Amino acid sequence: APESISDLLDRLSAIVPDYPVEGVSFKDLTPVFADPLGLRRIVDEVIEPFAGQFDVVAGLEARGFVLAAAAAYASGTGMITVRKAGKLPRPVHRDEYSLEYGTGTLELHRDDITPGTRVLVLDDVLATGGTVGSSVRLLAMAGADVIGVGVVLELEALAGRKQLAGLNVHSLQLV
Ligand code: PRP
Repeated sequence: APESISDLLDRLSAIVPDYPVEGVSFKDLTPVFADPLGLRRIVDEVIEPFAGQFDVVAGLEARGFVLAAAAAYASGTGMITVRKAGKLPRPVHRDEYSLEYGTGTLELHRDDITPGTRVLVLDDVLATGGTVGSSVRLLAMAGADVIGVGVVLELEALAGRKQLAGLNVHSLQLV
């Protein structure tokens, strides 16, 4: 039988104990990105439910860029970057969101989206949902129609999905 996506992620991911803090076991996806079949598989599977439903892919800095650029290329669309504050050179929409300690700010170039553009949002991990939620607000400010959210890992205990009510969220593995 072909390997399931969950088995592939378990085989290729690196588990890092006590990272970023003691007691937390971190599932590092960089070896999956580095593997030729692994990269292709996660990109194909993360976009599969949304085929034909989006005009552009939005990648969330930084690890979301890896998935989003490959997904845009694979689906024949373009890719836009949602970035941490201060990185984009032209006029932006800006949104502040809560982090475990303090706040973060994300930005989107105002003219990256024309109203009504159908956007698929991609990131590597859904944790609290703060990052995806902020990105969706930014895209809404620009008049986008966010048709879905794709992530590789969903950290179930942090209940990010609850924060994203009304959105079609597709994850490849619950951890
Ligand atoms: C990580 C991850 C997601 C986000 C998920 O990014 O890549 O973008 O956190 O967490 P949340 O659901 O609680 O918002 P990080 O902020 O570490 O940025 P990086 O990809 O630039 O390292």
